[in-house]
Amino acid sequence: MNPAELMNKARKAAENAYAPYSKFRVGAALQMADGTVITGVNVENRSYGLSNCAERTALFTAMTIGNKDVRGIAVAGPDAWEPLPPCGACRQVISEFCTPDTPIYYDDGEGGFVISSVGELYPANSLMDMADK
Ligand code: THU
Repeated sequence: MNPAELMNKARKAAENAYAPYSKFRVGAALQMADGTVITGVNVENRSYGLSNCAERTALFTAMTIGNKDVRGIAVAGPDAWEPLPPCGACRQVISEFCTPDTPIYYDDGEGGFVISSVGELYPANSLMDMADK
């Protein structure tokens, strides 16, 4: 699946965001090595700090169904007015399951998207390679 198609999957997923507090919907789509796409949305909570970002929802879903081989990530925010790269917490979680060259595509806030990578967004990887995968 090409980057634009993966972004469309993320944008479609964002329709299911549970974001009654921020009113800021986000969808993420993971391109898996087997050709499947796994999506996630942000899930907020009335105790604001418990909110989960779309990227982590998608990654946790991937692990839940036993699909670990992530080859690309798309993040779409239909309510975004500026570029929407993953937050710091998500960058750390993403780094657990991806390599530095894994592409990340994210909304540019103007109807298009930015092409980046895990290594570009999280260059000084913290605690890498500690797990026996
Ligand atoms: N959010 C995401 O889901 N992903 C991002 O990359 C940035 C922010 C969510 C968290 C919260 O539910 C809402 O967007 C506003 O910050």
